[in-house]
Amino acid sequence: MEQYVIKGGNSLVGEVEIGGAKNAALPILAAAVMTDETVHIDNIPDVRDVNVLLGAIESIGALVHRDDRHRITINAANISDVVVDNENVKKIRASYYLIGALLGKYKHAEVTLPGGCDIGCRAIDQHIKGFRALGAEVVVEHGMIRTRAERLVGSHIYMDVVSVGATINVMMVAAMAEGKTIIENAAKEPHVVDLANFLNSMGANIKGAGTDVIRIKGVPSLHGSDYTIIPDQIEAGTFMFAAAVTRGDVTVKNVIPKHLESITAKLLELGCELQESDDAVRVVCSRGLRHTNVKTLPYPGFPTDMQPQITVALGLASGTSIVTESIFENRFKYVDELTRMGANIKVEGNSAIIDGASRYTGAGISAPDLRAGAALVLAALAAEGESRLDNIHYIQRGYEDFHLKLQGLGAQIHLLDQEQDYSHFHILTG
Ligand code: UD1
Repeated sequence: MEQYVIKGGNSLVGEVEIGGAKNAALPILAAAVMTDETVHIDNIPDVRDVNVLLGAIESIGALVHRDDRHRITINAANISDVVVDNENVKKIRASYYLIGALLGKYKHAEVTLPGGCDIGCRAIDQHIKGFRALGAEVVVEHGMIRTRAERLVGSHIYMDVVSVGATINVMMVAAMAEGKTIIENAAKEPHVVDLANFLNSMGANIKGAGTDVIRIKGVPSLHGSDYTIIPDQIEAGTFMFAAAVTRGDVTVKNVIPKHLESITAKLLELGCELQESDDAVRVVCSRGLRHTNVKTLPYPGFPTDMQPQITVALGLASGTSIVTESIFENRFKYVDELTRMGANIKVEGNSAIIDGASRYTGAGISAPDLRAGAALVLAALAAEGESRLDNIHYIQRGYEDFHLKLQGLGAQIHLLDQEQDYSHFHILTG
C-alpha cells in the first residue's frame, strides 16, 4: 500500500503543465470502438481509470497500441465480443460508456455495472430511458446491463436530470441510429462537447453540444480519426486551489481558460489575483483568504468535482462560508479527516457550514475518494507539520504524477510504500 507523506508550509510557486481530461478521454476511448477503421488519440492522461478502460477495450478483441505515454492507437475491426465483464471494469464508473458505444455499433451490448458508491448513489435510469427511446430492449440482471435492438431509430428524448453520463451514452447510440434524435436538458460539460467533436471527426452529425439541446442525425458507419483531447479542467482547478491554500503563485499551462471560469470567479472572491492568457492561468495568493458561499451545479456552474478543494480553501478563510452540494448526496465524507487537521466544519444535509480556522495541522488521514483525496493533499500542503495520507490509489485514478507535479512547484510530498522505513523520509526532507 502506498501513501503520501507531506510536510506542509511551503508556498507553491512555478508552472505546471496540465494533462488531457480524464472525463473526456474515457468516453472518447469507448467511442473509438465504433468504427472498424484505425483511430489515433492524443493527450490521453496516463491515469488508472483510463488504463482500466483500455484493458476492457482490449479484452473484447480491439487492438490497442500505446504509441507513447499520451498517444493511443485503437483498431476495433475485429471485436469478438460485446460482453464486458471483469473485476477491474466494475471498479470504474465509465465502463458504462462501452454500453453506448457497442449498442450503437453492434446493436447489442452487455456490460457489468459499476460497483461501489463512494460519493452517493449514481442512478442509471436516464441512460436506460434513452436507450429504450432509441429502440433498444434493456434488462438489468445479475449485476449486468444487457441491451439489444433489432433497429435503432432516432427519437426525442427529454432528460429528467442533467446527466453527463446519460447525455454521452445516448449521444453515442444516436450517432449510429436511423434518423434524427433530439436530446433535451442535455449536459453541457466540456467533455460532452469534446466527445461530440470526436464523433463528428469520425463522420457523425451532431449539433448543439455545449447547449442543452443536442441534435443528432444518425449515420450508418463511422470512419477513422486523429484527435487530441482537451485539457483537464479539474486537474487545472486543483492546482489553482493548491496555489490559494499555500499562498502561492502558480501558473497552470495548457488549459482552456473558458472552461475554468467558475473556478476563477470563486478564486477572485477568495481574494486571489488571476492573470489569463490564451492557454494559461496564473493564480497569485499573497493575502489571507476571504469567506464566500458556493453551490455546485452542472456546467457552467461550479463543478462538484471541485467541491472538496474549495472547502479546504474556505476552511482557512476568515469568516463563515457555506458550501452546498447539489449533484451528489454523499460528498462530504472527507470533512471528518479535515476536522482532525483543525478545520471547523459542520455538515447539515447537503451543506457544509465552515467557520474558517487560522491554520491546519498535519495528521494521519485517509482519502475517501478521488477528488476528496486530492483536496486532502492540498490541506496537508497548507498545514503546519507532517501528514500521512492513505488510500492514495483513489488519487491515482484521476491525477497523473500528482506528487511529482506538486514537487515541481516546491511541495514537500513523497510517495512511500508503507513497507518502507518511515524514518528515511525525515532524512530526505530535514
Ligand atoms: C460525471 C463525471 C464525474 C462528475 C459528474 C458530475 C465522468 C467519468 N464522471 O459523472 O466526475 O462528478 O459527471 O459532473 O465523467 N443521475 C440520475 N440518473 C441517471 C444518471 C445520473 O439520477 O441516469 C443523477 C446522479 O445520481 C447525480 C446527477 O444525476 O446526482 C449527475 O450525475 P452524472 O452527471 O450522470 O454523473 P456521472 O456521469 O456519473
